[in-house]
Amino acid sequence: MPALSSELLDWYDVHARAMPWRVGPEARRRGVRPDPYRVWLSEVMLQQTTVAAVKAYFERFTMLWPTVANLAAAPDAAVMGEWAGLGYYARARNLLKCAREVVEVHGGSFPGTRAELMTLPGIGPYTASAIAAIAFDQPETVVDGNVERVMSRLHAVHTPLPAAKPELSAHAAGLTPQERPGDYAQAVMDLGATICTPRSPACGICPWRTPCAARDEGTQAELPKKTLK
Ligand code: ADE
Repeated sequence: MPALSSELLDWYDVHARAMPWRVGPEARRRGVRPDPYRVWLSEVMLQQTTVAAVKAYFERFTMLWPTVANLAAAPDAAVMGEWAGLGYYARARNLLKCAREVVEVHGGSFPGTRAELMTLPGIGPYTASAIAAIAFDQPETVVDGNVERVMSRLHAVHTPLPAAKPELSAHAAGLTPQERPGDYAQAVMDLGATICTPRSPACGICPWRTPCAARDEGTQAELPKKTLK
């Protein structure tokens, strides 16, 4: 595994954020597997909503509908009603369509590869990679805004977004390890959310402070650059 990846995993072992859909690194080592239904539900909720806002909705959904079969059997109006406040109602409609397809076409178990996941309603390339990595430990790379910021700084990429996206994705893919790719995906997201923040990043306590090219140049506050709209 690249040295950078294992340094980040060591940091995640200590600093992983607790989230209701997560299986933490310690439980993962004991062999506890994440429930793909819970990973899928959280990723769909997180598509346009913050972690803090999603937590209560996630708890309520999984209390009412603990399995994908329970959700698939729920009346549309009940699910839409519980979704109220999360916005983007197309997501809720796709959520139900997806749950029903998992039950009817896949026998109630989510498929375990990115390609199969992408055939399901509401699961695009990003969400498919996230579920494949987090729920099934497939070595898929998850690239969201946090990850782009981290990569732009680690590698001092001065090309502005969105033109830099392919380059940043390639950097992220190059670091994705074959071992623990699910923990790794969540570790990069946590690093971006808690240390490598948009403003005033906490470089002094960053596990990547030594290899960080932007920190070396002193440009971390300027990156990622953005094309002015
Ligand atoms: N944002 C989207 N998915 C996430 C996850 N699994 N952990 C933290 N932030 C996320």
